[in-house]
Amino acid sequence: MSSPSVQANGARIPLLGLGTWDLRGRSCARMVEEALKQGYRHIDTAAMYRNEEEVGAGLRASGIKRDEVFITTKVWSSDLRPRDFERSARESLANLKLEQVDLLLIHWPNSSVPLKETIGALCKMKTEGVTRHIGVSNFSPALVAEAAKLASEPLVNNQIELHPYNDQSRTIAASRKAGLSITAYTPIARGRVKGDAMLGRIGKAHGKTAAQVCLRYLVQQDIVVIPKTSRSERLAENAAIFDFTLSEAEMKEIAGLASPHGNIVS
Ligand SMILES: NC(=O)c1ccc[n+]([C@@H]2O[C@H](COP(=O)([O-])OP(=O)(O)OC[C@H]3O[C@@H](n4cnc5c(N)ncnc54)[C@H](OP(=O)(O)O)[C@@H]3O)[C@@H](O)[C@H]2O)c1
Repeated sequence: MSSPSVQANGARIPLLGLGTWDLRGRSCARMVEEALKQGYRHIDTAAMYRNEEEVGAGLRASGIKRDEVFITTKVWSSDLRPRDFERSARESLANLKLEQVDLLLIHWPNSSVPLKETIGALCKMKTEGVTRHIGVSNFSPALVAEAAKLASEPLVNNQIELHPYNDQSRTIAASRKAGLSITAYTPIARGRVKGDAMLGRIGKAHGKTAAQVCLRYLVQQDIVVIPKTSRSERLAENAAIFDFTLSEAEMKEIAGLASPHGNIVS
């Protein structure tokens, strides 16, 4: 089954992934297994989430072939010195029980470590086959430009907080200018969109929920979304976003919700 995806600097990234922050233990493994069985082909984890073992277990339990699933993990900001970076990335592989991940990200920038050193370590993880692709997360427009200049291997993604309530247009433009795709984390604003009257009204016209309208709004702009849920019925709800289209007027109306101070996490 081919899932809708975005291409960037040689990478093909499925537009829908399962976020796993805060999923732990057996329930994490169960949600990953179920998501993959339902058709998800992208799982987002991180060393900092302390659930890579369970993500790997869920992947194996699903029976879906390894090369059909896109696995992203991240190196935490306290591990950005080259030796720590490499150790963390290799530990992630051991925890996941994988030979390679699909995307390795710098989780957050850390101004006390020269970016050049960290980018060097990130590129090394690609050339040594630890990961197929590399990218960044929580990088500002200026940092994206600097990172792209320093990198000897192409960066393919910037994962940032993005939902209808925050304005990330500058970061999106800077990332795309450097050839990076965008992944929206916290894409349903930690569930807040559920009670949004405008998204609810637009959803009603399409037979969809407010959360589905929110996710559609993002994927319709070629933005990868990684909603997290611990409930299987919501896995299906969050995945049913590729069978309808928002009109230009609806897209514009939703864009009007954004504010420069609308971040929840960062
Ligand atoms: N790179 C970074 O720095 C960074 C930072 C934050 C997050 N992330 C990644 O992004 C992923 C998603 O972000 P997030 O977990 O912060 O927030 P989110 O996906 O926007 O929201 C998750 C919350 O929304 C609820 N929810 C899920 N589907 C729903 C639906 N259809 N209707 C109503 N509520 C729904 C979930 O509750 P239930 O579990 O009860 O369904 C959960 O409380 C994370 O899991 C992680 O993988 C990355």
